[in-house]
Amino acid sequence: WDLCTRVPMFRDGGVELISTVVHLLRIDDARPGEVLMRRGQTGDRMYFIVSGRVRVEGGHGGAVLGPGDFFGEMALLSGAPRSATVTVLDTAELLVLDIADFRDLAGKRPDLIKSISEVARRRGHADA
Ligand code: CMP
Repeated sequence: WDLCTRVPMFRDGGVELISTVVHLLRIDDARPGEVLMRRGQTGDRMYFIVSGRVRVEGGHGGAVLGPGDFFGEMALLSGAPRSATVTVLDTAELLVLDIADFRDLAGKRPDLIKSISEVARRRGHADA
């Protein structure tokens, strides 16, 4: 619960949203250098960053994401292969949402998925 409240997207949704996502997310402590996903792979989960940073390396440049950010959403939304490789920079506390739970959440909280889609759309443009 505490970790969920540290992700603004969940915190801003209030107690009701947190009580929904808390059952769907699991914790992953990742080490520097760990590759969480590779460009071209099939996507089966997405991640929310509680602490630490990751590097995103796409076909066209990259980005560094940190606390409160999420990644791995694009493949879940579109069914397309992973658009980028994501590597852990600092020891990171992550919350993982598997694709089945992502679909479950999409049914329960379409508003949240809409916000995630909006970010994915912007990233897709940045990648193009
Ligand atoms: P996905 O394509 O599933 O896997 C790679 C992830 O990297 C992608 O989802 C996004 O979450 C992230 N990503 C891709 N392009 C960018 C970008 N331009 N800026 C930030 N994150 C990105």
